[in-house]
Amino acid sequence: MKRGGTDQQKRRAAERAVTAVSSGMVVGLGTGSTAGFAIDKLGERVDDGLEITGIATSYQSRQRAREAGIPLVTLEDATPDIAIDGADQIAGTTLIKGGGAAHAREKVVDSAADRLLIVADPTKETETLDHPVPVEVLPDARPTVSRRLGDLGGEPTLRSAERKDGPVVTDNGNLVVDCSFGEIEEPAALARQLSQLPGVVEHGLFVGLADEIYIGTADGVVHRT
Ligand code: 5RP
Repeated sequence: MKRGGTDQQKRRAAERAVTAVSSGMVVGLGTGSTAGFAIDKLGERVDDGLEITGIATSYQSRQRAREAGIPLVTLEDATPDIAIDGADQIAGTTLIKGGGAAHAREKVVDSAADRLLIVADPTKETETLDHPVPVEVLPDARPTVSRRLGDLGGEPTLRSAERKDGPVVTDNGNLVVDCSFGEIEEPAALARQLSQLPGVVEHGLFVGLADEIYIGTADGVVHRT
């Protein structure tokens, strides 16, 4: 079990979402433990004859897709018909993502997809977003961005690597500042403010981007459209 819900809940959500994929589709492959279960299931279906190509959102999802036997392309070659991704917090169709420091590429791929399917366990759902917002920053801009985040009422913390000394470095060679804003009453306004800060590569607020939510529970899946 990873933080939050159980692997069973995550797997249920992921496997149900994968039933929306059919042959001929280009599929955006999200990052994280729940999206990982979707990649595994897609791999099983590819073994059974499903003809798809995947677009990875991170080094992690690319490796998992390769192990699962999913042929990969890039955004140079194709646009995703559908993307399946996880989330750290979900309020309606708005998300906070970036627990795996992959939110910049995730936002590019997820927002390019015709349909974004979010897969999660029940601990991720909330009325009002209050999870710290991951902000990917250019390394040289970390001090100035942190000060600006403080001016916006946030409490910024540089994300440290769990297994070695030093900060997390993203697939793009940048740093991640997790910024707590307490309850986020107006995510769209905050998203605009964060996007305007010089040195911010991308933030983890995905405003109104989810088309469908799949929540795995102890005995089934709740599907919201
Ligand atoms: C990675 C993400 C993940 O999708 C998010 O952190 C959820 O991960 P998990 O399914 O492991 O809880 O945004 O950047």
